[in-house]
Amino acid sequence: MSFQPKSVIEPFRIKSIEPLGLTTLAQRRAALERAGLNIFSLRAEEVLIDLLTDSGTGAMSNAQWSAMMMGDESYAGSRSFYKFEAQVKKITGYAFVLPTHQGRSAEHILFSTILKPGQIVPSNTHFDTTRANIEILGVETVDLLIPEGKRPMLEHPFKGDLDVPALEALIKEKGRAQIPIVMITVTNNAGGGQPVSLANIKAVSAVCRKHKIPFFIDACRFAENAMFIKLREPGYADKSPLEIAREMFACADGATMSAKKDGLSNIGGFLALNNEELSVRCRNRMIPIEGFPTYGGLAGYDMEAIAVGLEEVLDENYLRFRLISTEYLGKKILKAGIPIVRPVGGHAVFIDAGTLLDHIPWQQFPGTALSAYLYEISGVRTGEIGSLLFARKNADGTVTPAPYELLRLAIPRRMYTQAHMDYVAEAVTYAAQHKKELRGVRFTYEAPVLRHFTARFEWAA
Ligand code: F0G
Repeated sequence: MSFQPKSVIEPFRIKSIEPLGLTTLAQRRAALERAGLNIFSLRAEEVLIDLLTDSGTGAMSNAQWSAMMMGDESYAGSRSFYKFEAQVKKITGYAFVLPTHQGRSAEHILFSTILKPGQIVPSNTHFDTTRANIEILGVETVDLLIPEGKRPMLEHPFKGDLDVPALEALIKEKGRAQIPIVMITVTNNAGGGQPVSLANIKAVSAVCRKHKIPFFIDACRFAENAMFIKLREPGYADKSPLEIAREMFACADGATMSAKKDGLSNIGGFLALNNEELSVRCRNRMIPIEGFPTYGGLAGYDMEAIAVGLEEVLDENYLRFRLISTEYLGKKILKAGIPIVRPVGGHAVFIDAGTLLDHIPWQQFPGTALSAYLYEISGVRTGEIGSLLFARKNADGTVTPAPYELLRLAIPRRMYTQAHMDYVAEAVTYAAQHKKELRGVRFTYEAPVLRHFTARFEWAA
C-alpha cells in the first residue's frame, strides 16, 4: 500500500517573510476617499492582501537570489546576458533575443518597427498595454476570440482560442497588406486567464503562413498555458511543459514576453524572433530607448534572476500547484453562489461583477465599484477588467462596452498561503451578501489613455 495524498501542497517552503500591516475600517475608508475610489492610487502598505496583479509581485527562490549575486554588470557583452539568452533560446527556439525592461517595452519596439497608421492587428484578445502600444501608432486592434470565450459561465477547455474563420474573413476583407502581424496572447489574460490550445495555435500559424503574415505570441503566461495543454489537450499528457512550450513557440515567428509573470521575476522582459533583418531593425530602435543589446534596460542581476525563473517556472510540480491553488480560490467563491469566469484560469479568479451586480449599469463600472467595496471591508485589493479598461470610444461619439464586467483576483506567484485565500473568499462572500448596499461609480477625473490607472471616482447617486 502506498500513501496517495489528495492534498496538493506548495512545492516550496518559506525562508524569508514580509509582515502584513493590518488597517482599520476607518483607515481604509479614508484611504479610499483620498484615492478617489481607485485602488491604483492606494499605498501598498494600506493593502492587506494584494491581488491587483500577478505581475512582478511574486516571490523569488533562493536559487534566483543567489544567482543575482553572480550578476555581471558589464555594459557590453555581460555574462548574465548570455545566460539569459541561452535560457530564452532553449524555451522559444528563436534565434534573436532582445532583453527589455518589461513586456510593454518589447511590444513598443516590435510594433513601432513594423506597423504603419491605418493597419489592423488581430489577436485573440489584446491586453491593455498591447492595445495601447498599437493604437498610439494609429493602428486598429481587433479581438477575434472564439464565441465560447465571451460567455463567462460556459465551461470549455480552451476559451482563449482565436476564432480562425473570423481571422480568415478579416484577411479576405481587409487584404493581407493591411494586416502586418497577427498576435495571440497565452493565456488570455483579459478573457479570464483562459488557455489557448496547441491545435488553435497551429491553425492560426497555418493561416499566417499561407498569407505570409508574421505571427507573434504574447507569451507572458506561456508556462501556465503549456500546463493547461498538458492537462486538457489530447496527446500532450506525457509531454513536459518545456516540450509543449517549445511546440507552441515553434508555430510562431517570435514572441513578446513580460518576465514579471512566468519569468518569476520582479522586472524584465524580452522580444525574441527568428527574422534576422527584423531583429536588426528592432535592435536599432531598442538602443536609444532601452539600452545596449546585451542589457536592454535590465541590470545584469535581473537577467540572472530571469534565467533561473524561466527554468523554475517549467517545473511540473510548481505548475500543478499553481493551477490547483488558483482553482481552490475560484471554487470557494463559486460555492458561495458568486458567478465567476469558468473554468478557473491560470493566474487569477475573475468574478463576473456585471452579473453579480446586475443593478449597476456598465456605464457605472460594476467591477470598479466592487473593487472599492471589497477593499473597504477587507483590505483586499483587486482590479477591474471590464469597461473601465476595455470600453471603446467610437468615431461617432458612442461607446461600446467591454464584452463583460469582471473583477480580477490575480494571484502573485509563490506568495500567499491557503489561509490568505480563505480570507479572500470570506471577504468576497461578505461583499456578495451585501451587494444591495453597493452603488456604481462615476468619474471625477478621466485621462485620455489607459484611464484606469489614474481615474478618480465618486459613488453614483
Ligand atoms: N501582455 C499581457 C497579456 C499582460 O498581461 C501584460 C501585463 C503585458 C503584456 C505587459 O507586460 O507589464 O511587463 O509591461 N499585465 C499585467 C497584469 C500588468 O496585471 O495583467 P509588462
